[in-house]
Amino acid sequence: MRANGRMAEWMVLAGVLAAASGGAPARADDTASVMAGKQVAQTWCVNCHVVATTQVRGSDQAPTWTSIAALPGTTSASLHAFLAQPHGKMPDFKLSKPDIDNVVAYILSLKN
Ligand code: HEC
Repeated sequence: MRANGRMAEWMVLAGVLAAASGGAPARADDTASVMAGKQVAQTWCVNCHVVATTQVRGSDQAPTWTSIAALPGTTSASLHAFLAQPHGKMPDFKLSKPDIDNVVAYILSLKN
């Protein structure tokens, strides 16, 4: 589980490097989105959620994103619907549509 998450991060990084060096992989847009989503997560979500496999802990109440990603019901559509509303006593910030797209891509990248 931990090892896989680590691996996924390396694959994301490898994709970015490949894109930067001109050999853009087919999923370059997805990769950029995942990276941007990670930034959103580390700005807005990290106080409560464990958002990365390398993070030790968030709050006791909020589920880790790896566990959210692993739920069978977690899809791009379900995450978009959920994030359209504030939740879990989140501070009243508003995510832009691209922020939501990116953070959803990031959460889904944690699957398996
Ligand atoms: C103030 C604490 C807090 C912050 C900040 C916060 N969350 Fe949460 N989040 C929670 C809690 C608590 C739950 C579980 C209870 C619930 O579903 O409301 C949760 C649940 C979730 C879920 C699970 C939905 C499901 O299907 O069960 C997702 C996805 C999620 N948060 C995404 C985010 C994202 C993305 C951000 C940052 C933009 C964020 N959260 C910021 C506290 C927080």
